[in-house]
Amino acid sequence: MKVAVVGATGMVGNVMLQVLAERNFPITELLLVASERSKGKQIEYNGKTYTVIGLQDAVDAKPDIALFSAGGSTSEEWAPKFAEVGCTVVDNSSAWRMDPSKKLIVPEINGNELTKEDKIIANPNCSTIQMVLALAPLHNKYKMKRLVISTYQSVSGTGVQAVRQLDNEEKGIEGEMAYNYPIYRNAIPHCDVFLENGYTKEEMKLVKEPKKILSDDSFSVTATAVRIPTAGGHSEAVNVQFENDFDLAEVRQLLTDMPGIIVSDDLDNNVYPMPIHAHNKDEVFVGRLRRDESQPNTLNMWIVADNLRKGAATNTIQIAEYLIENGLV
Ligand SMILES: NC(=O)c1ccc[n+]([C@@H]2O[C@H](COP(=O)([O-])OP(=O)(O)OC[C@H]3O[C@@H](n4cnc5c(N)ncnc54)[C@H](OP(=O)(O)O)[C@@H]3O)[C@@H](O)[C@H]2O)c1
Repeated sequence: MKVAVVGATGMVGNVMLQVLAERNFPITELLLVASERSKGKQIEYNGKTYTVIGLQDAVDAKPDIALFSAGGSTSEEWAPKFAEVGCTVVDNSSAWRMDPSKKLIVPEINGNELTKEDKIIANPNCSTIQMVLALAPLHNKYKMKRLVISTYQSVSGTGVQAVRQLDNEEKGIEGEMAYNYPIYRNAIPHCDVFLENGYTKEEMKLVKEPKKILSDDSFSVTATAVRIPTAGGHSEAVNVQFENDFDLAEVRQLLTDMPGIIVSDDLDNNVYPMPIHAHNKDEVFVGRLRRDESQPNTLNMWIVADNLRKGAATNTIQIAEYLIENGLV
């Protein structure tokens, strides 16, 4: 496969290259693409040095697959141009996720929706992917009625500039700010931009995307997304009310059987998921499983994953692998 990584100099792009190498992705030619600012920059991949090129040069090279993580406006403008030359784009931005003509894919859940005709495929939001992977087997069994979500999100979810802000603040160095406020020793209830309804765009992604991925809009969702000074991954407290009652041992078994999920829940030994353990791992970790005693059929759970791996790069590359394995590219 001739593969283009668009946004190769960024936070997700960098992890994308690590994951491609680790998984031995079948690359015959690799194109590393970023903005005009980075043109000519040198990046190492699998012991070889590559020169960063611009978007038009990449389109002209007609890649088979392009893995995009370069922001929404770049995707909106350029993904169709890649698709026009026959390339299949898997896009990490929010540009195409809710477009009814585009698929929103978590391969373990709805990879089977993909066809040869899908030329632009959307990767869900990082907080959505980890949550929906844990909820899918429970929804299939007990049918979700309502979700109440609170997130504790890593600065790596905002990109290179935010990680630098936290580093600088820890060291007491002045520098460019990615957030309106200091993030060190703080919690900022503001991820992405505010919308007219008073929610942030990130919160509304958590409301809308699970319904599209699970092909079911019968359940209701409300969310609060908070940025905290961690770097290894996103954490989520999820309160889920089902239509039907559940057995906690069976919940544990359903989660254990779900590909990509690790149940990490042993209170006697203080075992529960944390970003420090999820960092650099592809799995989604679930723990603190307990019945909500305030209302029937309701479960509390704590879900943690590395937002740059399963939340972004790994899921994108799993989609590309699915396309190759099923002869769809
Ligand atoms: N971080 C996460 O956990 C996460 C998770 C899921 C999805 N995403 C999405 O992935 C995308 C990238 O996120 P990130 O965290 O990697 O951000 P980042 O660290 O700021 O990197 C942005 C990348 O996009 C490139 N870029 C920016 N403007 C461009 C343009 N006009 N033309 C071509 N390339 C351009 C940058 O190139 P230069 O270096 O040349 O500026 C850089 O490679 C965003 O859409 C984000 O929403 C991020």
